[in-house]
Amino acid sequence: KDPRIAKIASSIRVIPDFPKPGIMFQDITTLLLDTEAFKDTIALFVERYQGRGISVVAGVEARGFIFGPPIALAIGAKFVPMRKPKKLPGKVISEEYSLEYGTDKMEMHVGAVEPGERAIIIDDLIATGGTLAAAIRLLERVGVKIVECACVIELPELKGKEKLGDAPLFVLVSSA
Ligand code: PRP
Ligand code: MG
Repeated sequence: KDPRIAKIASSIRVIPDFPKPGIMFQDITTLLLDTEAFKDTIALFVERYQGRGISVVAGVEARGFIFGPPIALAIGAKFVPMRKPKKLPGKVISEEYSLEYGTDKMEMHVGAVEPGERAIIIDDLIATGGTLAAAIRLLERVGVKIVECACVIELPELKGKEKLGDAPLFVLVSSA
């Protein structure tokens, strides 16, 4: 295993009982304070995705907006924001997804991507997988090929990977 992974893992702070009792919150803001861990995180994704014909890096609001753009710039792809509802000013397509309580929507601008493009989807964390599954549906609806979903950290006990269908998942850190 790459020696950079352990440093990245230890730079993520775990805050128990946030936002409510029983939840172990995986806080990536401490990773962002560690310039080496942040740089290595981006480098590991760039090493994995450069040269694979990827023209779209889709980032999920909000925390996918932190990791997606530096990867997009480094591999020469465009960055496409997948936003919370009513934020994008142009024509959008949207997908509903379930949260712990109720549902939310994710939106993407029409015309941001073309059929046949190859994309990766970036977020900080996969828990139940509902968020990434909505992003996959949005892109697949317009004929984009999902090369992979990529996250810094996963909570494997929630089995979010099973919600992603045929789209592969790559994570740097697995939380016990
Ligand atoms: C968190 C996290 C992922 C999502 C994962 O985002 O950043 O996007 O939850 O959960 P899931 O796999 O169960 O769908 P959150 O919706 O809390 O919002 P934020 O990124 O705007 O902080
Ligand atoms: Mg999020």
